Amino acid sequence: MEPGYLQAVDPADEESFAVLSRLLAVALPGHWTETMLRSDIVQPASHYYLAWAKTGEAVGFGGFWLIEDEAHLVVLAVEPACRQRGVGTALLWGLLQWAREQGARRMTLEVRADNEAALALYRRFGFVELGRRPGYYGEVDGLVLWTPRIDGPDYAGQLQQWAAGWRRP
Ligand SMILES: CC(C)(COP(=O)(O)OP(=O)(O)OC[C@H]1O[C@@H](n2cnc3c(N)ncnc32)[C@H](O)[C@@H]1OP(=O)(O)O)[C@@H](O)C(=O)NCCC(=O)NCCS
Repeated sequence: MEPGYLQAVDPADEESFAVLSRLLAVALPGHWTETMLRSDIVQPASHYYLAWAKTGEAVGFGGFWLIEDEAHLVVLAVEPACRQRGVGTALLWGLLQWAREQGARRMTLEVRADNEAALALYRRFGFVELGRRPGYYGEVDGLVLWTPRIDGPDYAGQLQQWAAGWRRP
């Protein structure tokens, strides 16, 4: 992972918040309002990351809550023009590393059953479906995914292998 690619967001940093807020509007329109983002990011359990391209533009972000030893991924999004270039992979990799460093044993999330891009990304990191909420998104089910244990040496070694071949966009 190149230095400067991923940046942990300080919730008190207004400049970073403005960047997150802009990305939220373009990458996840209609998902959260700016007010919802602000109220989430200031929670002590919240951890957010930004991904920066070589050009100096922020191209994606993600955040999780750490509750006891469980990390709940609450948001992950990449600027539409920068998708399918490895940014989502790098972000999720960083979030998993960070969660491990904070003492998480597993990560969980909920995703629409028809979100093929996100599902492919999550499966790459070992997430498996352990629950289904029928009709959670209207006509579409919600899937509850979990990683295996992420705190042990096996998963750490796997993360190192995954990181080896990536290119910063
Ligand atoms: C899901 C999302 C974060 C993926 O980001 P990304 O930067 O495009 O992901 P990557 O380039 O790292 O791709 C990782 C893998 O995901 C899969 N993938 C990504 N986009 C895909 C698509 N459109 N269709 C099918 N698979 C896709 C591929 O398996 C890909 O691996 P590969 O490139 O080696 O084939 C991005 O599509 C996004 O922001 N979507 C809207 C927000 C969202 O749905 N967030 C998840 C909510 S739970």
